[in-house]
Parts: sequence; C-alpha cells; structure tokens
Amino acid sequence: MTTPTKLETTDEEPPMIHENGPILVTGGTGTLGRLVVPRLRDAGCEVRVLSRRSREAGEGIEFVTGDLATTEGIEAAVEGAEIIVHCAGSTKGDEDKALNLIRAASRAGARHLVFISVVGADKIPIASGIDRAMFGYFGSKLAAERLVTDSGLPWTTLRATQFHDLILKTAQQMTRMPVVPVPVGRFQPVDAGEVAARLVELALGAPAGLVPDLAGPRVYEMAELVRGYMRAHGKRRPIMPVRLPGKAARAVRASANLAPDRAVGRRTWEEFLAEQVS
Ligand SMILES: NC(=O)c1ccc[n+]([C@@H]2O[C@H](COP(=O)([O-])OP(=O)(O)OC[C@H]3O[C@@H](n4cnc5c(N)ncnc54)[C@H](OP(=O)(O)O)[C@@H]3O)[C@@H](O)[C@H]2O)c1
Repeated sequence: MTTPTKLETTDEEPPMIHENGPILVTGGTGTLGRLVVPRLRDAGCEVRVLSRRSREAGEGIEFVTGDLATTEGIEAAVEGAEIIVHCAGSTKGDEDKALNLIRAASRAGARHLVFISVVGADKIPIASGIDRAMFGYFGSKLAAERLVTDSGLPWTTLRATQFHDLILKTAQQMTRMPVVPVPVGRFQPVDAGEVAARLVELALGAPAGLVPDLAGPRVYEMAELVRGYMRAHGKRRPIMPVRLPGKAARAVRASANLAPDRAVGRRTWEEFLAEQVS
C-alpha cells in the first residue's frame, strides 16, 4: 500500500488551477458527476465527460462515448487527460470498470486519478452469497480502491456515506408497499453537492492518497429516514423492521457504514426533503 498523505483542506492555499488539457470525469452524467462537472467549469477547467450514450458538446464540456465495462471508447476518453475524476459506478462490477480505466489511463500517462468510494468499504465483510447479494457493492468498491492504490498512478480516494438522493430513491421504492419493510440499521446521508465540491478540491490539488471520510451531519435509523420521507410526502404506511441475515448486515447494524467522527457534511436530510417538496 502506498502511504497516503492526509489532506484536510479548505482554508489553506487556493487550489491549483489545471490548465493543461481537459479533466476527464467518468460518470459525469450521474447524480454525483453532474454536480462535479459545473464546479470544475467554474474553476476554469476544460471538462471531458465519459458516457455510454452519445451527447452533444456544449459550454466547455466535451462528451466521449465509451463503456468502462467493455473498454470501448476508453482510449479516446483518457487521451490527453492528466487528471481523471472517476465517478462512474453501478451496483455491480466497479472493480472491473476501475481496472479498465486504470489500464488505459496508465498507458496515456495520467498524472492524478481521483476516486470516489464508500464509507464502510473496508469494514463490511463479504463472506457469503447472502452478503454478496445484498452488500456486494461494498466489496466491489474495496476491490476498486485497491486497484487504484496499486495502479502506479498518483491517486486520491475519498469515501463518502450514502447520498440523500439514494436514500430518497430507496424510500420511494420501499413505500410503494402497503406495509414498509425497513432493514434495521442506521445511515448518515450526505449531500451529493458537498461531495462534488470536495472531489473538485481534491482533483485540483496534489494526489493525496486516502483522505478523511466525508459523512453527513447526522446519523438516523433507517426507519426514521423513511418516516421523514413519508411525512414530507403526506404518505402513511406502517413500518415493519427487518433483520437482514449475514455478516455484512450485522456489520451494518454495528455501524460499519457510518463515520460519526467525520460528520462534516452540512445539509441535513430534512433540508433535502424540504427542497424536494417545495
Ligand atoms: N449514491 C451514493 O449514495 C454513493 C455513496 C458513496 C459513493 N458513491 C459512489 O459515487 C459514484 C457515483 O454515484 P452516483 O450515485 O452518482 O451514480 P449514478 O447516479 O448511478 O451514476 C452512475 C454514472 O456511472 C456511469 N456509468 C455506469 N456504468 C458505466 C460504464 N460501464 N461505463 C461508463 N460509465 C458508466 C453512468 O454514465 P452513463 O449512464 O451516462 O453511461 C453514470 O454517469 C459511484 O462510484 C458510487 O459508488 C455513491
């Protein structure tokens, strides 16, 4: 493992503005990446976005069509991009996507790879098929983190807790049922815009290794988050607590997905919900 330099930012020197070539944002069309791109533009950077669907360029943003799972289009995406912010991800196979990106980026001579991972990647064990089926995402993120660390490229990795948007989507799906089955466990949702701002800061700074986690301002029981969602949307449903089986679920009940000492996010779940309904 490379020894990471800890970087705890903000009020020190202004970040270096990158002027040589575009910054590649993978996943620049997703919840997080969509918020990273305009912040890089505001910092004066040229931005290239990788997407599986072709899109029109505009406002200093170039789109390259490619797929990290198949490697199609990836050479063109990394060409000339010294800084890469890797936000592309899905529920499965993030390690394969990371490997394909790293191979292409190494060949192209990238100078800084910034990776977004998840709090708990290193603490939630994937020991059985049940763990993999429900929490395999965390195992993939850890594998991807290790690939980034061992890539030979200068790197920075930030772990964040679940974004408000993901909790919202989960609550929407759960409350379609007449009785809402809610896994026993706690979450510490964070604002995706705050994560995006931090990623931009990291991308424009020197490679820093594994930096301190970014977690939301408060820890909530999942049931509390779902109740908050129902209140905000005028829904009424009974909640049925569910204890999920397996070691990964047990680790989540033991708070492996939380970072209460890194509750540096500001925007609360209630503020996020209020904006959704306004
Ligand atoms: N959501 C959370 O709560 C959370 C918390 C911590 C960390 N993270 C991490 O943050 C990152 C972004 O999450 P998100 O919620 O913004 O995701 P999202 O909204 O689901 O967006 C996923 C993005 O990944 C791109 N993508 C997916 N598969 C791809 C492939 N094979 N090749 C190229 N691009 C691909 C998609 O681009 P196209 O569809 O345009 O191709 C899209 O832009 C992920 O790495 C995730 O693990 C998320």
